[in-house]
Amino acid sequence: MADDLRQRVATELERTRRRSAVLTDAVDDGDLVKQHSPLMSPLVWDLAHIGNQEELWLVRDVGGREPVRQDIDHLYDAFKHARRDRPALPLLGPAEARAYVAQVRDKALDVLDRVRLEGRQLIDNAFAFGMIVQHEQQHDETMLATHQLRVGPAVLSAPPPPEAQARVGGEVLVPAGSFTMGTSTEAWALDNERPAHDVFVDAFHIDVAPVTNAQYAAFADDGGYDDERWWTTEGWRHRQEAGLVAPLHWSRDPSGWLATEFGRTAPIVPDAPVVHVSFHEAKAYATWAGRRLPTEAEWEKAARFDPASGRSRRYPWGDEDPGPEHANLGQRHLSPAPVGAYPAGASPLGVHQLIGDVWEWVDSDFAAYPGFTAFPYREYSEVFFGPDYKVLRGGSFGTDPAACRGTFRNWDYPIRRQIFSGFRTARTPEPA
Ligand SMILES: [Fe+2]
Repeated sequence: MADDLRQRVATELERTRRRSAVLTDAVDDGDLVKQHSPLMSPLVWDLAHIGNQEELWLVRDVGGREPVRQDIDHLYDAFKHARRDRPALPLLGPAEARAYVAQVRDKALDVLDRVRLEGRQLIDNAFAFGMIVQHEQQHDETMLATHQLRVGPAVLSAPPPPEAQARVGGEVLVPAGSFTMGTSTEAWALDNERPAHDVFVDAFHIDVAPVTNAQYAAFADDGGYDDERWWTTEGWRHRQEAGLVAPLHWSRDPSGWLATEFGRTAPIVPDAPVVHVSFHEAKAYATWAGRRLPTEAEWEKAARFDPASGRSRRYPWGDEDPGPEHANLGQRHLSPAPVGAYPAGASPLGVHQLIGDVWEWVDSDFAAYPGFTAFPYREYSEVFFGPDYKVLRGGSFGTDPAACRGTFRNWDYPIRRQIFSGFRTARTPEPA
């Protein structure tokens, strides 16, 4: 049992490191140390930061070992230096960073071999190892977003996502009632997903699929970006200041809208979910369409609630871990898949593609669940609770299954759109 868990952890660590290597080996040293956008760190910072977190938690804390490189802790503390300031720091160079993460990994695997995986909350069910796997995967997604911002010839490649297998569209009714939100049983769930608690949700309609490029283009083509009526006060101010006219990475030529994905520019795929929109843009679209964004509880109920059993599932399709038939996750493809591409991943209520493809903005602030306890440190989630951050759910094509569950919560500023963010809409039923 403990050996199975150890083996699973080792496999996950190794699989995750292969992804980090793909993302950092794809470019030369000059590209690794360069800042491709003030919103992002140089890739070489992410790489060494991944190793530094692994050292802090697995080598020093769980393993009780001597530090590998205590002298660099401050350089890789995300709270000490804003992303825009990171290129000016005396960071490890590419070769040093690679050697450092490899050295830390050797020690972490040695700790994994020897430590008892119980008796302390941090290591029960190998939690600290799961946290470090998720942390590295989250930075891999961040590095993938950096690749998307990088200017130059394409360096990443992957097969195209599957085509639509079913015609999906319209909305479904989610009946009023309580459901279980969050989790108290998922071993590697993070503090902000806990604990499980009952939430009563009024009846609502929700889109069967995320809003597509064609649907979003209709909003842009209808003058949606020039009509203050569709925007909140804060959203309109941002739209003016930032000069927004379309999703990030879109451009126009006489034939219509184009999107640039990882160095390749092509016409938008009409039936694929729109990606790289901010919360403000998502909300403006919803208002233009006579609808609204779902709340976080509505999103999770649509994703997890099974009316037949009355219980919440781990994922929309059931309790089994995500497979390639369920969802577009894990950077297997470099874009969202058309709506209808994953019928096997639909929820019991018939809602598609809640997991994978695009992170979905919901109209909720990032807040603690009732009974929340910060673990293993306040800076993981607690310091971000409040009205500054909006929640995103469901993961994107760049999110690894290890960092994506029906309960997983992501958060960001409502103006951000360099992330792989899209949305779906909802509405409150008319009174009978
Ligand atoms: Fe981090």
